[in-house]
Amino acid sequence: MSDLFYAMTMPGLETLAFSEIRATIPETELVKFMRGIALFRTSTLPENLLDLHTTEDVFATLAHIKGLRRGPDALRVLHSATLNADLSSAVASWRRGHHGARPRTWRVVSQMTGSYDFRRMDAGQAVTDALRKSMPRSMRLVEDDADLEIWLWLGGGDVLIGVRLSDATMRHRQYKREHIPASLRPTVAASMGWLARPTAEDIVLDPLCGAGTILIERALLGPVQQELGGDLNSQTVNLARRNARSAEVDISLKTWDARSLPLEASSVTRIITNLPFGKQIGTREENEALYTALIREFDRVLAPKGLMVSLTSEDRLWDRILQENGWRTQKKVVFVVLGQPASIFVSERA
Ligand SMILES: C[S@@+](CC[C@H](N)C(=O)[O-])C[C@H]1O[C@@H](n2cnc3c(N)ncnc32)[C@H](O)[C@@H]1O
Repeated sequence: MSDLFYAMTMPGLETLAFSEIRATIPETELVKFMRGIALFRTSTLPENLLDLHTTEDVFATLAHIKGLRRGPDALRVLHSATLNADLSSAVASWRRGHHGARPRTWRVVSQMTGSYDFRRMDAGQAVTDALRKSMPRSMRLVEDDADLEIWLWLGGGDVLIGVRLSDATMRHRQYKREHIPASLRPTVAASMGWLARPTAEDIVLDPLCGAGTILIERALLGPVQQELGGDLNSQTVNLARRNARSAEVDISLKTWDARSLPLEASSVTRIITNLPFGKQIGTREENEALYTALIREFDRVLAPKGLMVSLTSEDRLWDRILQENGWRTQKKVVFVVLGQPASIFVSERA
């Protein structure tokens, strides 16, 4: 028997996250993509969904309502959909993912995008009121830190109500002890690794590795021959070393200038990197000079059939520099990072 689940991702990375789900659990069937959500059916055990790398959170679906109207009647619809939901099988899924533990406390988390004639809080209250009737008496409603979280999500007429199977370690990872200001979300780094079409023969380079997130996530996705990384800042390199150690991943890390790498020509098969961008790091002019120097060096060290996956908010600038330097972009994935749009480019030499 297959059950309905959904994965939450960074908005823009839904299809990519679903491709990982499909590759990991082949019998999965897509039901629908929504903004930052992939809704799917699968007969797999719920605990298998907790090992995904590109997904931020996973839910067992209690209700999927299509075409919810904006008016106040909608609150009654939310209430009755919650009352009619199969809470016990969703809780059973939660328990499987938590080594059989029994939840003692619960709460409702609500998220709403788009305009409705009611407030997010009122929508959350409609769901809470219904759950008070169906939750086992032994479980207590709390404000924060609940064992069991029921999330209500409203967006563009679709509503999802689900039991959250994952916890914060799914998106934040346990290895990531050290951060730098421009550090990438692990799920985004994993998405870049996924877009680089991983093979066990890969020699992967992140020339501007920061806290090491991209290389660590690539190694966690699957086997790799070798991983190399470096950063201009030696303290950052030390921090990447500590993260790599805590993730138990083998990466050769050095302090270097990515514009002049101590690597042989054509010595790596994949470059996966998060370029310094925007106001966060460097001005536009500085970025242009840096990007031009970087692409020449990347061109030198990447093997002839190699692939480059790069992330930047300086979309137009990077696009132009890639074209001017004889690169072809096979795919571009646009999503939102730190409140601004960013693009992941999958490129090869033309
Ligand atoms: C956007 S951050 C990378 C963040 C990294 N992906 C992470 O998750 O932590 C860019 C990094 O490039 C480094 N950097 C800037 N210019 C560099 C250069 N010329 N050579 C090497 N590293 C450089 C910065 O020190 C910074 O750590």
